[in-house]
Amino acid sequence: MTTPFVHLSVLLTETVEAVLADTDGIYVDATFGRGGHSRALLATLGSNARLLAFDKDPEAISAGEKLMAEDARFTIIHASFAELAQVLTERDLVGKVDGIMADLGVSSPQLDDASRGFSFMNDGPLDMRMNPNQGVSAADWLVTVSEEDLANALFQYGEEKFSRRIARAIKKEVAIAPITSTKKLSDIVAEAHPSWERHKNPATRSFQAIRIAVNQELDDIKTFLPQALTALKPNGKLAVISFHSLEDRLVKQFFQKEAKGDDLPRDFPIRAKDLNPRLKIVGKKSAGQEELAQNPRSRSAHLRIAKKLSEA
Ligand SMILES: C[S@@+](CC[C@H](N)C(=O)[O-])C[C@H]1O[C@@H](n2cnc3c(N)ncnc32)[C@H](O)[C@@H]1O
Repeated sequence: MTTPFVHLSVLLTETVEAVLADTDGIYVDATFGRGGHSRALLATLGSNARLLAFDKDPEAISAGEKLMAEDARFTIIHASFAELAQVLTERDLVGKVDGIMADLGVSSPQLDDASRGFSFMNDGPLDMRMNPNQGVSAADWLVTVSEEDLANALFQYGEEKFSRRIARAIKKEVAIAPITSTKKLSDIVAEAHPSWERHKNPATRSFQAIRIAVNQELDDIKTFLPQALTALKPNGKLAVISFHSLEDRLVKQFFQKEAKGDDLPRDFPIRAKDLNPRLKIVGKKSAGQEELAQNPRSRSAHLRIAKKLSEA
């Protein structure tokens, strides 16, 4: 049975244009989702091109397998993009990739399907794993995490001002019985939250934080970025879409660090170009008026583009 849940891709043309170079080249889509970006890229590529796509989510993989059956240029890989180096090494593709795109975070089908346990809008089992066959569910994580670590996660990953109060309320409930439903967690957070923001569910920040912790999203991005740079050939392009400031900051800082090159003391007698910069920042894009009107999710999307330098 096909899933009724759809994903509207963001910054589609901009991302494809950003990575496209040789139409018979080798490309990577680090986050296949439902394949919006992969399909758009394949539509511009020639018959000898190759596109490898990654996803953690078994449902994304099923969608990718269908595309793989239709298009010999395409391969779907069930792995985290943090395993990019290993997968490309096995295929002898390191240093040979023309373009890599990543559209970070969760897909609409993951959020909309209550049974995946990401949603505070619809009740479901409290899971939140992108790959439900790996790692621990949000329900189990809330049992094992300490109150202090939970508060830190809520503060760092959700930028939740009332992190301590909410962590205390969650751990108090968990001490009685595990929280196994998204509605229950959402009710606990709402009750503990002293200051609801207008037009925002009080559980929004806490759900985001727990999801990021359960999926180790920021660690995966930190591992992925240097691997992506190594995977590219000289002049190869990296295009990353982020949806919240924590992801975007990691991408921005990585680009800035690699564009600057070796970390030597400020007064070290060396010219900037001799610092061995490994990439050049190409630019940053956000959704235009038309896309904003069609897809509200695009409001928070930021695309950062960089090019690998030949010396890297
Ligand atoms: C925003 S969606 C991508 C949508 C896709 N660009 C499209 O147009 O259909 C993000 C996808 O990345 C996947 N994902 C998130 N983190 C991942 C990781 N570390 N490794 C592989 N896939 C990941 C999620 O499972 C989700 O399917």
